[in-house]
Amino acid sequence: MAKTAFIGLGVMGYPMAGHLKTGGHEVTVYNRTTAKAERWAAEHGGSYAPTPREAAQGAEFVFVCVGNDDDLRAVVLGDDGAFAGMSTGAVLVDHTTASAEVARELAEVGGQCGVEVIDAPVSGGQAGAENGALTVMCGGEAATFDKAAPVIDCFAKACILMGPAGAGQLTKMVNQICIAGLLQGLSEGMNFGQKAGLDMEKVIEVISKGAAQSWQMDNRASTMCAGKFDFGFAVDWMRKDLGIALAEAKGNGARLPVTALVDQFYAQVQARGGQRWDTSSLIQLLAED
Ligand SMILES: NC(=O)c1ccc[n+]([C@@H]2O[C@H](COP(=O)([O-])OP(=O)(O)OC[C@H]3O[C@@H](n4cnc5c(N)ncnc54)[C@H](OP(=O)(O)O)[C@@H]3O)[C@@H](O)[C@H]2O)c1
Repeated sequence: MAKTAFIGLGVMGYPMAGHLKTGGHEVTVYNRTTAKAERWAAEHGGSYAPTPREAAQGAEFVFVCVGNDDDLRAVVLGDDGAFAGMSTGAVLVDHTTASAEVARELAEVGGQCGVEVIDAPVSGGQAGAENGALTVMCGGEAATFDKAAPVIDCFAKACILMGPAGAGQLTKMVNQICIAGLLQGLSEGMNFGQKAGLDMEKVIEVISKGAAQSWQMDNRASTMCAGKFDFGFAVDWMRKDLGIALAEAKGNGARLPVTALVDQFYAQVQARGGQRWDTSSLIQLLAED
């Protein structure tokens, strides 16, 4: 059993840290808003620390799950950051969805202080985090991955090393690019069916058995038709992720015409007050036109 720290107890991090504890590991948490760290420690019986540095002291594995590149730098680098508390040979596993650039930067700075780093963004959403069934896409050294994977398994149903530092984040970009176009197609299909006067529950029942089936169809088509979006993966997060993918594509020359368009549709959803709505809310733009 390992001595671990978990930094960032948001929608994802809170239950992920809980799975580490129920998996038998020692867990010290840090959260910027201390009340959440206190609540977590009371619920799970672990301890909490006032800074990322103090949480990371003596830990073999330090997990991070914060918002974006800047948040990640804020909790890892600097005098009170995780690196300042970590010992030589300790491993930082970052579950934030961030750029490949910041993943490489942390791997390099970590290397200078003797700390190993894995970028490990996740897919599976809040339900995946709560059920311990996330998909984890990793970038880093094979020997580091081999050490970290059995601990990550506490909250993962799949955990795969994709390549060197940044490869996990690049894989997550592929994931988000695939979802963006798919959700727009699903929105158009559902909206078309409603306008055609079809019984949408029956439509979903039959087409989800065929080639149109997807996770989004299985989990979101009915709620899209019912206009329910107050759950799931927020539009604000999706815009962050698509921004990261579009910036990466500028560098590698990949064309992302549909992704760029869907990103603009999400900007419209935000303008309508849907910042925290689920990403399936794209259908709203069609329904109201
Ligand atoms: N939600 C999902 O379904 C989902 C799915 C896959 C991937 N992700 C990714 O996972 C990451 C976390 O998502 P989430 O839904 O858990 O977000 P969240 O609920 O908003 O939580 C964000 C966490 O990061 C902390 N944080 C943010 N900025 C910080 C800073 N500058 N310094 C210190 N702490 C900071 C927050 O602390 P406070 O409590 O003090 O605000 C909070 O603990 C994001 O990169 C997201 O894109 C999310």
